[in-house]
Amino acid sequence: MKRIAVLTSGGDAPGMNAAIRGIVRACAYHDLTVFGVNRGFYGLIYHDFVNLSINSVGDIIHRGGTILRTSRTREFRDVNMRMRAKEALDYFGIKALFIIGGNGSLCGGYELSKLGVKVIGIPASIDNDIPGTDLAIGFDTAVNTVLDAINRIRDTATSHERIFIIEVMGRESGQIALASGLAGGAESILVPELPFDLKDVVERINAGIARGKLHSIIVVAEGCCSAIELGRKIEEMSRHETRVTVLGHTQRGGTPTAADRILASRLATAAVDLFMAGEFNQMVGIQRDRVVGVDLQTVVEGKKEFNQDMYELARILSI
Ligand code: F6P
Repeated sequence: MKRIAVLTSGGDAPGMNAAIRGIVRACAYHDLTVFGVNRGFYGLIYHDFVNLSINSVGDIIHRGGTILRTSRTREFRDVNMRMRAKEALDYFGIKALFIIGGNGSLCGGYELSKLGVKVIGIPASIDNDIPGTDLAIGFDTAVNTVLDAINRIRDTATSHERIFIIEVMGRESGQIALASGLAGGAESILVPELPFDLKDVVERINAGIARGKLHSIIVVAEGCCSAIELGRKIEEMSRHETRVTVLGHTQRGGTPTAADRILASRLATAAVDLFMAGEFNQMVGIQRDRVVGVDLQTVVEGKKEFNQDMYELARILSI
């Protein structure tokens, strides 16, 4: 039986377990043996492999995190370490490596492919900043987690007639801020992709209060500016009381939404289909609700476009 290996790498994302399950079950369908690599690239370097049977992935589709655990492995930037990883794969007779992760992990995969490893990438990152796919596994769950927090904060914000600044994750990307801000009816959404004018933010707050609004919600992406500093300035300029909530790693955990489980299952199965078709060094992605294969080089050299139209829509609706 042909052998393949799968690992999860970088920041965990809800739905990674559903993707592991999808790979193992689709491989069983095609009579392939699956090895799991523990702790991402670290486990590849230090030969930490486990056999993943059909039963080993039972009862995980609804769990956040990753049963294979994950890491950010700096050592992998060293070509000697990548050679070690390749040797481990060759030693165990593994025909292809499936990498479930974000931009950094897919870059690691691309570097391995240059050494001759056959790689298939599956996009998973709450940041949703991976080029070549409209959606990454974990994004929908993270957005819904933020939305739940916004709903709760609205209650207390209204009671106290306060302005709330809510900082969300995303590294250099404003995707979580945009989606959760639009769905949560935020008065302003601040993202690293676009410059913002603090005076405009304060004017919107004041105009809302003048019309009878009892609170204001500002969603700020972590890559944009410091929420604490922003809160201080807004309080000074608007003369209204502000509070800051940094949601942090709450956004990375929790049970994956149906959308993330379905996405993970579709992408995992498509990844195994690529293997069966003998196509490698690609990432499976979703574009306009169709599963596609995208060249890994295009992914690692690309940049995800920011949805300006959606940003404008949020601005128009949040008067
Ligand atoms: O890439 C996912 C992410 O959660 C980012 O949004 C965030 O900036 C980063 O990871 C945090 O990483 P760590 O958990 O290593 O602190």
